[in-house]
Amino acid sequence: MVDYSMIETTPAEPEAGSMIETFRAIGYSLETAVADIIDNSISAEANNIWVDFAWKGSMSWIAIKDDGIGMNNAELINAMRPGSRNPNETRNTTDLGRFGLGLKTASFSQCRKLSVISRKIDSEPVFWTWDLDFVNQTGKWNLIKYLPDPSFEQQLLAQDSGTTIIWNDIDRLVGGLNQNDNTSLNKFLRRMEQVKYHLAMTFHRYIDGNKIKLWFQQHELAAWDPFLISETATQKLPGEPVQGGRVKLRGFVLPHKSKLTEIKFREAEGPNGWNAHQGFYIYRNERLLLAGDWLGMFRKEEHYKLARIRVDLPNNLDEDWQIDIKKSVARPPLILREQLKAYASKVRAQAVDVYRHKGKVLQRKYASHEFRPVWLEKVRHGKRFYAINTDHPLVQHLLSDIDAKKASITRLLCLIEETVPIPLITIRESEQPDLQGQPFESVTSDALISLMKLMYDSIIEQGHTEEFAKTAILNMEPFNLYPQLVDSI
Ligand SMILES: Nc1ncnc2c1ncn2[C@@H]1O[C@H](COP(=O)(O)OP(=O)(O)O)[C@@H](O)[C@H]1O
Ligand SMILES: [Mg+2]
Repeated sequence: MVDYSMIETTPAEPEAGSMIETFRAIGYSLETAVADIIDNSISAEANNIWVDFAWKGSMSWIAIKDDGIGMNNAELINAMRPGSRNPNETRNTTDLGRFGLGLKTASFSQCRKLSVISRKIDSEPVFWTWDLDFVNQTGKWNLIKYLPDPSFEQQLLAQDSGTTIIWNDIDRLVGGLNQNDNTSLNKFLRRMEQVKYHLAMTFHRYIDGNKIKLWFQQHELAAWDPFLISETATQKLPGEPVQGGRVKLRGFVLPHKSKLTEIKFREAEGPNGWNAHQGFYIYRNERLLLAGDWLGMFRKEEHYKLARIRVDLPNNLDEDWQIDIKKSVARPPLILREQLKAYASKVRAQAVDVYRHKGKVLQRKYASHEFRPVWLEKVRHGKRFYAINTDHPLVQHLLSDIDAKKASITRLLCLIEETVPIPLITIRESEQPDLQGQPFESVTSDALISLMKLMYDSIIEQGHTEEFAKTAILNMEPFNLYPQLVDSI
């Protein structure tokens, strides 16, 4: 142990100006900063949270108001203090905070003036402001008794309790912009629209669970559910507890595009697009930290885009999972990686099937029947190639029917096999997967039905029942993709 009483000391307090810049550089985006402020409202038991803003060029402001328990003067001053709570302190299980920094770092990342006005039940509102220019000028960490607009006080007086966070001088977003400049206004509105999507996503379980109502410019926000849980076509895989049951995994495979309306499909895509939103969704106390990430285990690829896996963490595993200050990064502990990867592989395999729309569901339904694909993957001298399945009933039918020409038909099939334009298909598929047609997609259903009928008759001719014939057809490519046509035979 060092005996401090014997040693000379000197003050070396952090220099205000450089400290501020450090705070500002933590790397919040506008979206993650607003979300962090809302976390505080949720921890303060708010039922309603209002995000409001006004465009005034460089004087624009953003305010986040809640109807939570509020703070008294001493609590507010403490809340304004950077590092107001020790990160190692055990938190209430529903608390979304941790470092005692969010309010300050999230705000300073966006603005130079942070005002907070708060009211506890049966008390008058209290307010304080951090003005970074004043801190810089004086070199002292002193709050100022300043409220940018009296209307914020009026609003709080109209409710029992609550808190409003006001950002002014939002230099990173609107610094130097002119109120009359329409291009700037549109850019500002577009950014706020992104904030809106981010909040609908980050707090979707709070909104859907009726725990909070989120208001954006006075309009109630609807939740964005990444798993489309209410869609019947969404595959919900069995959940799996890990880390001694403290963490829960649950995989979802979203419906194929053809099973959703165009609008639903676009909505489900998410703010950053289908491809970006595949992977793990990590929640801490149901608050989303990470919206689609394979955590370095796999690359994001088009054909896995329907795989989304929910990971539920409590708020006391932050260290294990390396949750950062911004609550936008999480890394699973090493010992869990293999388990997560194995679970993800199962979900991914199922997602590929749905993406390729192979009618696996039907296949399972008629598991007693063997599935009859048109193409087979084979390996020849260590190389992959694709062969036409000569066991396919249609091919069989053709070959048996015209015995004399069998040799030339076989040669034709061989020619087709050898010339499948694989490189072209691969490129097109990865560039524009949604434009890839299904077999017989643009062909009239009459043509398909007559082909089905041909098959059907020949199966009946072999002495099978109608039921058997239909089931066999449903297990045969490409008819498996069009089960609704079977009844028209
Ligand atoms: N909207 C709010 N309502 C009531 N108290 C709040 C609110 N925002 C912040 N606080 C108080 O300020 C403290 C510091 O907040 P913050 O800097 O975000 O750190 P953390 O959330 O990690 O505790 C919180 O722990 C809480 O006591
Ligand atoms: Mg916080």
